Amino acid sequence: MEKIQNAIAKARAARTGSAAPGTPPSRTGIFAPAGAGPAAISTAWQELPELTLNARQMERNRIVAFQGGGPATGVDMLRTRVLQQMRANNWRRLAITSPTAACGKSTVALNLALSFARQPDLRTLLLELDLRRPSLGRILGVSRDISFAAVLEGTGTFAENALRYGTNLAISTNPGPSRNPAELLNGPGVTRALAEIEARYDPALTIFDMSPMLVTDDTMAFAGQVDCVLIVAGAESSTIKEIDLCERELASQTNVMGVILNKCRYMGADYGYGYYD
Ligand SMILES: Nc1ncnc2c1ncn2[C@@H]1O[C@H](COP(=O)(O)OP(=O)(O)OP(=O)(O)O)[C@@H](O)[C@H]1O
Ligand SMILES: [Mg+2]
Repeated sequence: MEKIQNAIAKARAARTGSAAPGTPPSRTGIFAPAGAGPAAISTAWQELPELTLNARQMERNRIVAFQGGGPATGVDMLRTRVLQQMRANNWRRLAITSPTAACGKSTVALNLALSFARQPDLRTLLLELDLRRPSLGRILGVSRDISFAAVLEGTGTFAENALRYGTNLAISTNPGPSRNPAELLNGPGVTRALAEIEARYDPALTIFDMSPMLVTDDTMAFAGQVDCVLIVAGAESSTIKEIDLCERELASQTNVMGVILNKCRYMGADYGYGYYD
């Protein structure tokens, strides 16, 4: 753990002139909600179909944060750190990515979103932008006819795609891979769709579950649309070189909030995630 932390810090320090977190221009404010009133926002949320979670299925998929205490403690600590940084910087969009596949992005994104759902004063969106290998629907055990990709294309609405968990978390999923992920994430549709969704649902925070960085260009194509990013590293699969490369590339487009070391086998039960910033 300490070794990895030191190595990341060293690699970061060695990059003279590289963008430190906080340097790229923030896009916050560009898409400020167009002013839907509180009643309209509340109605829009109520109209989303409700999602109920099967505790056993969640446990099988390592989704622990739908109730507080016990195994959710580590996620709740992560939530607090994220919230502090987002509030301090007036950030509203957070992407979650990793160097390569299967580091735990979707697991972290969903746990974090469920942890935020227990903050009654905050509305949160979790949007699935891994359009090549979507998995949130499978993890949650849901499948909607209209994909989030269709919402980005303009052939479906958010209300037809998203599900509401409790009163203040909405989750968008994709039932299968999209035919044209790169075009969708690069095109004007995504900018328009996100602005419309934010205007209608007024989330305090939107979390994007992304593709792995070093496998496709999708995440880099989208990175300029978010205020900040968390990198999920696999404790025994991600190398320092990979993490450093991701951090450097992302820092040219957005603010790198930190690196989460996931799948740590040798940590105490209370520390599911290692987090560095
Ligand atoms: N902390 C953890 N400990 C052990 N297994 C984990 C942990 N986090 C996630 N996993 C498991 O690792 C696998 C991959 O997780 P997940 O789908 O969240 O990764 P991903 O980075 O989103 O993958 P992909 O790149 O395919 O989107 C899943 O089986 C998940 O249950
Ligand atoms: Mg995933």
